[in-house]
Amino acid sequence: MAEIFGKPLITQEAMRRRIRELGKQISKDYQGKDLVVVGVLKGAYVFFADLVRVIQLPIQIDFLIAKGTKKIDRPARTVKVWTELTEKIARRHVLLVEDIVDSGLTAQFLVSQLNKHKPASIAVCTLLSKPANRQIEIEVRYVGFEVSQAYIVGYGLDFEQKYRNLPYLAKMDPEPVQKER
Ligand code: IMP
Ligand code: MG
Repeated sequence: MAEIFGKPLITQEAMRRRIRELGKQISKDYQGKDLVVVGVLKGAYVFFADLVRVIQLPIQIDFLIAKGTKKIDRPARTVKVWTELTEKIARRHVLLVEDIVDSGLTAQFLVSQLNKHKPASIAVCTLLSKPANRQIEIEVRYVGFEVSQAYIVGYGLDFEQKYRNLPYLAKMDPEPVQKER
């Protein structure tokens, strides 16, 4: 796959550094608080594993499986959620971990769903953000990197459910991918 995607968009070293910073900030902000970190599958699975390991607090973890009906160049219209949380989040602090916040619709929908359980607070952390594509206003408290509108794969992010296992983030280039088939 490395031959298809070329060099990383963000190096693994830059990623490690930034995720460590996020972990430090989160550890500081939630010191002494009861925190549940909720990963949004599938996209956030790699980032989530790296992030929780640099949060130095006795957190609990949980997952949601969600998917926006999204095409490569169109924002999610509806969001489908397959799973329920297994942990109780009422009166607890929740950190929702996303791979990428694009239009913001998926994150907004998930926050509104989780709010029904009356958590003490809920904040969003995302590895990547495309602020230029935002269609609704949503507070994203922790952002790894802001990126342009290019479509990105790897490190958990997919194109048609593929390339999640590419170990780094790369810009999607449809041309060479066609040739691979
Ligand atoms: P939103 O609802 O438009 O914010 O879209 C969020 C979801 O769309 C993310 O959780 C991703 O699954 C997907 N997505 C948006 N942009 C990209 C991208 O550049 N690469 C891969 N997936 C993306
Ligand atoms: Mg996706």
